[in-house]
Amino acid sequence: MPDQYAVIGNPVAHSKSPQIHAEFARQTGQDLRYDRLLAPTDAFIETVNAFRARGGRGLNVTLPFKGEAFRLAGVLSERARAAQAVNTLKFEGNATFGDNTDGAGLVNDLERNLGCPVTGRRVLLLGAGGAARGVIKPLLEQQPARLVLANRTLGKAQLLLQIFGSGLEISAYAALAGQQFDLVVNATSASLAGKLPPLPAGVFAPGGQAYDMMYGRAETPFLAFARSEGVAARVDGLGMLVEQAAESFFIWRGLHPDTAPVLKLLRQATA
Ligand code: ATR
Repeated sequence: MPDQYAVIGNPVAHSKSPQIHAEFARQTGQDLRYDRLLAPTDAFIETVNAFRARGGRGLNVTLPFKGEAFRLAGVLSERARAAQAVNTLKFEGNATFGDNTDGAGLVNDLERNLGCPVTGRRVLLLGAGGAARGVIKPLLEQQPARLVLANRTLGKAQLLLQIFGSGLEISAYAALAGQQFDLVVNATSASLAGKLPPLPAGVFAPGGQAYDMMYGRAETPFLAFARSEGVAARVDGLGMLVEQAAESFFIWRGLHPDTAPVLKLLRQATA
């Protein structure tokens, strides 16, 4: 019986994680099985426990359960604690280890796949929900020139200062007018609703990079805005998805898969 893993979420039918992990397993010669696990929104823990009872070794956690997974994990990585969200669970005996590989996924995609290092750059992060929280610490660790977080609800963003300290700057959208950034990362859920965060024109520095954590066939409103602003470097979150998966795979199997051919495969499938 191969070791069992899964991605747990609701909904989860659209998840590309099974395909990504199947490729990683094939590439590294690992004998494992990776499925989709749909949990009722009010029965996350029961669904995890049943999976565990069947011999499950680890889970990727997606919406809306990253907060519940954080509370479930008995042992947490420092980055999961900072994010207050867990996207990777590893089960060993009775122990439950929780980690968050989203931020490393973003940083690795920027640095390795896009040639866009964060160090020394002016970075603007949009949003203050779970998606944004997950990437703040890994971005700060890269020592950007600035990391400014803009959010519609300013109070929610200001709470993050208590966790991440003075390395993080908080801004209202309107106050961004007249400022320029080398990298703008959209971590809001606005794209899901076909909406654009209220960004002023001119926030992209010449040669700047636009990054939307969302991915899909259609161009997101944020990337369309970046195009209208003359930004040539625009990318969706598919690379981050593959890179965070690779980090999870490493946590479970102790091996670093080669992400480039897997990302290429997914890009071809969504072209
Ligand atoms: P997630 O866990 O995916 O980050 P979330 O916790 O619901 O989801 O957070 C959603 C984020 O997207 C929030 O920062 C939200 O801004 P508010 O805190 O002001 O609600 C942001 N967001 C959603 N729709 C938006 C829109 N149309 N414009 C700007 N920000 C938006």
